[in-house]
Amino acid sequence: MKKFFIAIIMVLVPMVASASTGGVHLDSMDADHTNQESLQRGMKTFVNRCMGCHSANYQRFDRAANDIGLPVDLMAENLIFGEQKSGEQMTIAMPQDDAAKWFGTPPPDLTLETRLRGEDWIYTYLRSFYTDSARPWGVNNVVFPDVGMPNVLEGLQGVQKQTCSAEELAHQGGESKIDPLTGLQIGTGCLTISEKGSQSVEEFDKTIYDLVNFMSYMGNPVKMESQAIGYKVLIFLAIFFVFAYALKKEYWRDVH
Ligand code: HEC
Repeated sequence: MKKFFIAIIMVLVPMVASASTGGVHLDSMDADHTNQESLQRGMKTFVNRCMGCHSANYQRFDRAANDIGLPVDLMAENLIFGEQKSGEQMTIAMPQDDAAKWFGTPPPDLTLETRLRGEDWIYTYLRSFYTDSARPWGVNNVVFPDVGMPNVLEGLQGVQKQTCSAEELAHQGGESKIDPLTGLQIGTGCLTISEKGSQSVEEFDKTIYDLVNFMSYMGNPVKMESQAIGYKVLIFLAIFFVFAYALKKEYWRDVH
């Protein structure tokens, strides 16, 4: 019995180990694949604002539309801009070699990005760009220092400034709060909005939540299905146990 408990503990311990983020606090978000409206808004943002540079080569347009409750023709009309058909993968036309020259690194495919980085990391990353004149695009990022990606959502979020030293940053909690002096928002790290964008901080957080929710769906499109099957299997096992136990008793009755 003791060995059994030790084995259980050894199995469970790795489950609590979490990925390192280099000491930067990550804001957390709970992806919800049942929230179809959020997924639909997320897909719209993804197609409009990210697919200029990033592909989602392992996701098909129509599969996504079906899974998130968008009529396929409506999706094709509004979210497919080139010659692509709705049954095709969400590829882009930007040649990787050119992209590597322009940005230093080609923008990676994002289909499985939430599997690689986790939702929290991406949620924080997209909200953590700040002005840095030393960088080619004039911006840097708290969770991805010296990133090659421009801040493509600046129009929505506004311009952020970073007001901490690197050391202070590493020990910062990332809760959003209002700066009492300026009335502006202080975000992850020591980021302060210095020029307002078209969205308020809450609206922008929601836009990013929806976007990352959609990316999370792409990373695991069968999550809802596998959960439903999981419940059914557990119910089956519970019922099967009754019969298996009765059978065991029947077999052993003559032995004892
Ligand atoms: C103008 C081109 C461009 C656009 C538009 C763009 N990105 Fe990027 N993105 C890049 C480049 C280039 C990199 C690689 C940066 C590096 O490795 O330094 C990158 C990197 C990333 C990464 C980190 C990848 C990793 O794990 O290393 C994520 C996540 C990401 N982008 C998400 C997005 C999302 C979401 C959008 C839409 C809101 C978007 N990007 C729009 C160019 C772009």
